[in-house]
Amino acid sequence: MDTKEILQGYQDIFNETAEKLFFSPGRINLIGEHTDYNGGNVFPCAISLGTYAAFGNRDDETIQMYSANLPDTGIISVTLDDLTYKKEDNWSNYLKGMIYLIQQAGYKIDHGFNIYVHGNLPDGAGLSSSASIELLMGNILNDVFQLGIDQIDLVKMGQQNENKYIGVNSGIMDEFAVGMGKKDQAILLDTNTMEYHYAPVELGDHVIVIMNTNKQRALADSKYNERRSQCEQALALLQTKLNIKSLGELSIDEFDRNSYLINDDILIRRARHAVFENQRTLKAIKYLKENNLTEFGKLVNASHISLHYDYEVTGVELDTLVEAAWQQDGVLGARMVGAGFGGCAIAFVQKDQVESFKKNVGQIYQEKIGYKADFYIAEIADGPSEIKISEVEK
Ligand code: GLA
Repeated sequence: MDTKEILQGYQDIFNETAEKLFFSPGRINLIGEHTDYNGGNVFPCAISLGTYAAFGNRDDETIQMYSANLPDTGIISVTLDDLTYKKEDNWSNYLKGMIYLIQQAGYKIDHGFNIYVHGNLPDGAGLSSSASIELLMGNILNDVFQLGIDQIDLVKMGQQNENKYIGVNSGIMDEFAVGMGKKDQAILLDTNTMEYHYAPVELGDHVIVIMNTNKQRALADSKYNERRSQCEQALALLQTKLNIKSLGELSIDEFDRNSYLINDDILIRRARHAVFENQRTLKAIKYLKENNLTEFGKLVNASHISLHYDYEVTGVELDTLVEAAWQQDGVLGARMVGAGFGGCAIAFVQKDQVESFKKNVGQIYQEKIGYKADFYIAEIADGPSEIKISEVEK
């Protein structure tokens, strides 16, 4: 669906013309996986795939929400005075939660609205469609009701929405990457201090190919929370001797010298991933800045290997794509992104090899897994923004 069709969709569903149009991106993470809830560094960027919304004000207190991706759920209607989580409200809980949290923070939403949403992020692919829609709603409210909320606060509300309203214990990376995204830049975020820096993603004659396993991550949430609590247990054992607040504070040496305190093979491996991945992320940024793409690619590969052996969040689908990618000509590196267990991986591929890359990796995947993988070229994009309707109609 292009933006014209989205405006037409709004017209067809609500029998009126949309007043405004907005876009919010998805994200990929270059390196620094499962570090954001361990006080470590992440290095994500926003992408040009994401979620669009056509918007119109109402005079009453009603909010009507429609998703072009889920037409069977029809128009979901709620009122401003009852925004509690309701399972039957389905996808719209992501929007409701943001409105609710913004109200709770003391901001005034004084009338209802109609909203028509369409996303072009593949479903359940680990490219943060939920953060995309949360920051979409937050930015729309900020704009329309002139609330003056800082983007960072909207990002934090997005995470709160996941943790408290939806009930997934995720870290800050996804909302941060979506909300703070900048074209052609990745963001180094230290989740311990919340300090961040932009770094240009200059890959020479390489592009980032997103590889979608097309395996949805049904188990991801429960295993995600399990990994998180394993890291917490390992940290508590280290704290019996070390004065640290998170695994992200440890160097590789400090970890190796003290891992005996954990004294449990699984917990050691989980914590080792968190510590080593954090250090890899810092090194990777250094190499990227020095334009040493070969060493950068090696760290990307090492990240996947650690997510496979130590963190155990890859699975046969992601491993098949990544291992096939490693074998192709012109590939700097490849790894899974996001929570894992399915969803997407990325590969850094030489431009003139992209077609044969897709063909070869696609074939290996189809043969081994029995269904196809999808491939997209990632464009690194800005965070949420309004699209002027006058520009669309030109
Ligand atoms: C999911 C979570 C993030 C992060 C990644 C793993 O995407 O939402 O907070 O923990 O997994 O790096």
